[in-house]
Amino acid sequence: MCAASVGHELLGGGSRTRPFLPIAPQLPPFTPAGPGGDYSSGPHRRRKPLSKQDRKVALVTGSSRGIGAAIVTRLASDGFTVVVNYAGRAADAEALAARLAQAGASTLALQADVSDPRAVTAMFDRAEAAFGGVDVLVNNAGIMRLATMAASDDTLIERQLAVNLKGSIHTMREAARRLRSGGRIVNLSSSVVGLYQPTYGVYAATKAGVEAMTRVLAKELRGRNITVNAVAPGPTATELLLDGKPEAVVQQLAMLAPLERLGQPQDIANVVAFLAGPDGAWINGQVLRANGGIV
Ligand SMILES: NC(=O)c1ccc[n+]([C@@H]2O[C@H](COP(=O)([O-])OP(=O)(O)OC[C@H]3O[C@@H](n4cnc5c(N)ncnc54)[C@H](OP(=O)(O)O)[C@@H]3O)[C@@H](O)[C@H]2O)c1
Repeated sequence: MCAASVGHELLGGGSRTRPFLPIAPQLPPFTPAGPGGDYSSGPHRRRKPLSKQDRKVALVTGSSRGIGAAIVTRLASDGFTVVVNYAGRAADAEALAARLAQAGASTLALQADVSDPRAVTAMFDRAEAAFGGVDVLVNNAGIMRLATMAASDDTLIERQLAVNLKGSIHTMREAARRLRSGGRIVNLSSSVVGLYQPTYGVYAATKAGVEAMTRVLAKELRGRNITVNAVAPGPTATELLLDGKPEAVVQQLAMLAPLERLGQPQDIANVVAFLAGPDGAWINGQVLRANGGIV
């Protein structure tokens, strides 16, 4: 399993006993078959039951756990057919897909390392073959490795560029070629773009690049009826943030926001669902900072 090598970063050592800050996402109960396929907007929108073929198809990268798992669960609950992408943790992805399917969703778990362009192309091919097309890309897969610029080694630099920046380019390129009219692209940035704390330099640079591409692609897709936006979470209670951090550091991060808590994966999933669903139709080329008011 390669999962142990991705998604984790240390600010320091120390044991964690943090019963009030769970590492696992607190996924909401799944409610089957909402109106995910209905993109008409306005107060008189009619919610009609959809056949499987009518449903919009959402591909969420890095959705075996953390924020991505909350997003894919919420989108399935909203009525989307969902593709659960993962890098190494097949068991987590398959278990999530099975739970969603049991609750009535159409779903598929697909392995693809987003840093590999051929794997990304193959993933879109398989999603299209299974469901007839893709309507929504949520570009969520990401890793974080923290170090000062002086201490950043080649592997730290290259891997973050490969997954966060090149991975996002690969998926956005496929989405730009393939997404159907009415589609949505939602990229995961980070509020470190704006906070610019020491040790976050390379990671922040990858996310600043994602924000730049968000704005460019929104314009390039003129005439296609596809929106491109980014969501920039603040500190959110997942493995990526919590692993290896001493309790005191986590508490400091939690207190950054005037709302005085860490974000939960569900907080971010709610924002992504808004942008991916009918109510977000008029938002395009924007970055929404979902961080409780930090920046
Ligand atoms: N948590 C935060 O505080 C925070 C704040 C701002 C922004 N974000 C951003 O939000 C996104 C999700 O973060 P998270 O906190 O949920 O992270 P996480 O808990 O570490 O989960 C990362 C997910 O990405 C997948 N992944 C990692 N490398 C991949 C690759 N090369 N190809 C495909 N999938 C890959 C993992 O798959 P496996 O399970 O198979 O390894 C996992 O599903 C990231 O883009 C992150 O930068 C997070």
